[in-house]
Amino acid sequence: MATCHRSVVVRFWASLYVFLVASMVGALNVSYDQRAFVLNGQRRLLISAGIHYPRATPEMWPELIATAKRGGANVIQTYVFWSGHEPRKGEYNFEGRYDLPKFVELVGEAGMYLNLRIGPYVCAEWNFGGFPVWLRDIPGIEFRTDNKQFKDEMETFTKFIVEKMRARALFAQQGGPIIMAQIENEYGNIEWEYGQPGKQYVKWAANMAEGLDAGVPWIMCQQGDAPLNVINTCNGYYCDGFTPNAPGRPTMWTEDWNGWYQLWGGLVPHRPVQDNAFAVARFYQRGGTFQNYYMYFGGTNFERTSGGPFITTSYDYDAPIDEYGLVRQPKWGHLKDLHEVLMRCESALMSVDDEPEYISLGRNLEAHVYTTAAHPEICAAFLANIDSSSSAVVEFRGTKYELPAWSVSILPDCKTVAYNTAKIHAQTSLMTMKRNNLKTRNPKPADVDTLIESQVATIELDWEKQEEPIGIRGGNTITAHNLLEQINTTKDSSDYLWYTTRFQVSKEDIKELQGRKEDVRLVLEDVRDALHVFVNGELSGSFSGSWFSLNHSIKLKEGVNEIALLCMTMGIQNYGAFLEKDGAGIKGKVQVTGLGSGVLDLTTSEWVYQVVTNLDL
Ligand SMILES: *[C@@H]1O[C@H](CO)[C@@H](O)[C@H](O)[C@H]1NC(C)=O
Ligand SMILES: *[C@@H]1O[C@H](CO)[C@@H](O)[C@H](O)[C@H]1NC(C)=O
Repeated sequence: MATCHRSVVVRFWASLYVFLVASMVGALNVSYDQRAFVLNGQRRLLISAGIHYPRATPEMWPELIATAKRGGANVIQTYVFWSGHEPRKGEYNFEGRYDLPKFVELVGEAGMYLNLRIGPYVCAEWNFGGFPVWLRDIPGIEFRTDNKQFKDEMETFTKFIVEKMRARALFAQQGGPIIMAQIENEYGNIEWEYGQPGKQYVKWAANMAEGLDAGVPWIMCQQGDAPLNVINTCNGYYCDGFTPNAPGRPTMWTEDWNGWYQLWGGLVPHRPVQDNAFAVARFYQRGGTFQNYYMYFGGTNFERTSGGPFITTSYDYDAPIDEYGLVRQPKWGHLKDLHEVLMRCESALMSVDDEPEYISLGRNLEAHVYTTAAHPEICAAFLANIDSSSSAVVEFRGTKYELPAWSVSILPDCKTVAYNTAKIHAQTSLMTMKRNNLKTRNPKPADVDTLIESQVATIELDWEKQEEPIGIRGGNTITAHNLLEQINTTKDSSDYLWYTTRFQVSKEDIKELQGRKEDVRLVLEDVRDALHVFVNGELSGSFSGSWFSLNHSIKLKEGVNEIALLCMTMGIQNYGAFLEKDGAGIKGKVQVTGLGSGVLDLTTSEWVYQVVTNLDL
């Protein structure tokens, strides 16, 4: 009874607090119509900057948000990272880089709105797509389909996040910045693989989200068959021409890929800002209302959060704010200029109830005009040349305009060109990182800030190198007569798992070899993500790929031989159907071919395993 009474009192004070905060900051009623999001009865043009809170440090958050605002964004978008918030089932974490409420509060304090993409599957080039690894150990679970175990966990987490936001009064109707939330993520790309249960799951997810009563519209992205209680939105390099799942919904672009993620050993992706500006201008030209840069700041995949396989720790993304939090020019500046001009057009863009007036100006040349008969003085026009190689001169309302190839001109008064996507006026100077001649050796951590402020850029550190033993060392081994799946074995506590085995090679096996062309080979069937092969303590080869096979020449000796395979995960698979079934490590078979006695099958030999963690060093 006492407990019950106390919780009622706590709830009373909590709701009073929420009420007071809401009435102080000003509650915002959020709805939408076919044209736009409607905030307190007013349609708004929304420009959003994607920033993922755990990809920066909390110390960076205020400046990143401020730089996005200075750059002309009025919304911040983030995913919610389940694996960071619930590292063990039922144990929640909102500390440090995972202090989501703090991040959302900072967005509100900056006078901006927030798009909260809960997922809780997020892909995001994040380890396991944001799923906590323990989820795959729940008996009978199947992810992202009509499966009770999965739906229970998804609902529990989604509800937890919504309640957490509500308790801190972070939803718009409570005076907070959150104006829209997302459930699921790009499910439309893989739904076909799940058949009918997939369709049921989509409906369930939409209803579950709506039932949480967050007071803001819910979106799904890449979900053509999205139920009517959510809005389908577009992800891509270009999203003009996109239509939502049903009439009466605004045209929204959740992920404008203004760069791309990087793979180990891959090229550094780059998207020219002229093309990005063109895509954005075209989107608003053709009726778009919300556009988010994915990413506006990409940041860093700290610790072991990189997705897989092979996503680098840098998530720079060629974004307008670089990995270090510095503006990237001319990308940042050219988009800032675009946003200023778009905002000058806001009242004209929002005055039109449905589609703008379309005028063909010739082949690959088109104008869209936003104005109303009641207020012809409120008028904005976009003139586009969608030919990728030739510039053109067009006539619009009796005036001639020159349009470079692949460009849009914006006329906030339907007369004067205020911006052309192909013409950069922003700062184009490039930043270079320079070595400073002042040096200091091994400063104490406490002194580093002072050293940086006094421009001692080069800090020399002493490095220590440690030789690691090859194969099993010490205790903590597992022995089995089959090939263990890697994630089952490591529980993702480490990227490294040793698979070791020993076997006898006879004189005949070796003698037979002499005078023959065929060599001894190690044959593996299915391996991911990377592998070092050691034979009798020597490195014999290194390989990587996603479920690759191997047929590798090795040297054996007469007597006992040891094969030690160091298998590595490089970010658990973050994209695709049936993620819970994928696994990692060595699957299939392990064989040695080319011996005198024929094929030696090691698949069911005695294997000794060891998970390598930092503690072992
Ligand atoms: C492995 O490669 C060798 C040499 O190319 C070839 O003769 C042999 O058939 C291959 N073995 C398998 C199992 O693919
Ligand atoms: C992990 O282990 C369980 C039993 O312990 C097994 O049912 C499951 O198939 C394994 N997962 C993979 C991906 O091999």
